[in-house]
Amino acid sequence: MTSKDSSTNKQSLSILDLQAMKQTGEKIACLTAYDASFAAILDQAGIDLILVGDSLGMVVQGKESTVPVTVDEMVYHSQCVTSARENAFVVVDLPFMSYPTPEIAAENAAKLMQQGMAQMVKLEGAKPEIIAFLVAQSIPVCAHLGLLPQSINQLGGYRVQGREKNSADKILADAIQLEQAGASLLILECIPAKLAKKITNQLQIPVIGIGAGVDCDGQVLVIYDMLDIGVSRRPRFSKNYLKGAADISEAISQYIAEVKQRQFPTSEHSY
Ligand code: KIV
Repeated sequence: MTSKDSSTNKQSLSILDLQAMKQTGEKIACLTAYDASFAAILDQAGIDLILVGDSLGMVVQGKESTVPVTVDEMVYHSQCVTSARENAFVVVDLPFMSYPTPEIAAENAAKLMQQGMAQMVKLEGAKPEIIAFLVAQSIPVCAHLGLLPQSINQLGGYRVQGREKNSADKILADAIQLEQAGASLLILECIPAKLAKKITNQLQIPVIGIGAGVDCDGQVLVIYDMLDIGVSRRPRFSKNYLKGAADISEAISQYIAEVKQRQFPTSEHSY
């Protein structure tokens, strides 16, 4: 299931492998990482997908939100992660206001790919025209719907999205539109499990959930949350995997096993 990355001479999963996992029903295990040490631990434990998330603004930099994170910071953390991973597929966030137009998005995505060695970039919200433009330049895109942390100042708080029929219908319609625009992956954050299941079943592309129930094609958590070493309170949809584990590697392996066996998330971690 691996393909050769000739530029680095390392084996890494490709988007085709992730798509095949959706087809066969194998769950995709994903965690965030921001540095080489965590990337190496995740890789050795057998994680499928590493997300260099702009959540680093909160858990690494101690900022109040992801809004202050810059493209240069994302490039730096992406370099740290890609220098250490061998097998995992790496997706990197385009930070706040780095994709206001298709041209600016392409310029910044190119930095993440050429300097940060990202295999795919992620952007938040229903932005089909930006996604279509990036995909036309051979830049693979992961879309992100539901709770959008970069819009926190507009949302006013980190709340579950899509509880009402209108907003649920909008998230479903947006997901279909973003797939049609060429997105290769979709992250659904903090939405009701029933809605996430419906979206996952309707889309051909793999859907990765965070606070979106067990029926998504895969799961992602912020690594500091699942090790319970964050500066802020662990969110309800996360679980402390360090509790009872001998070390960080064992905690990560336990998370991967629970995702693969559909044991995480339970209803306790879902909406
Ligand atoms: O930045 C991040 O870590 C993310 C996840 C919460 C999905 O976008």
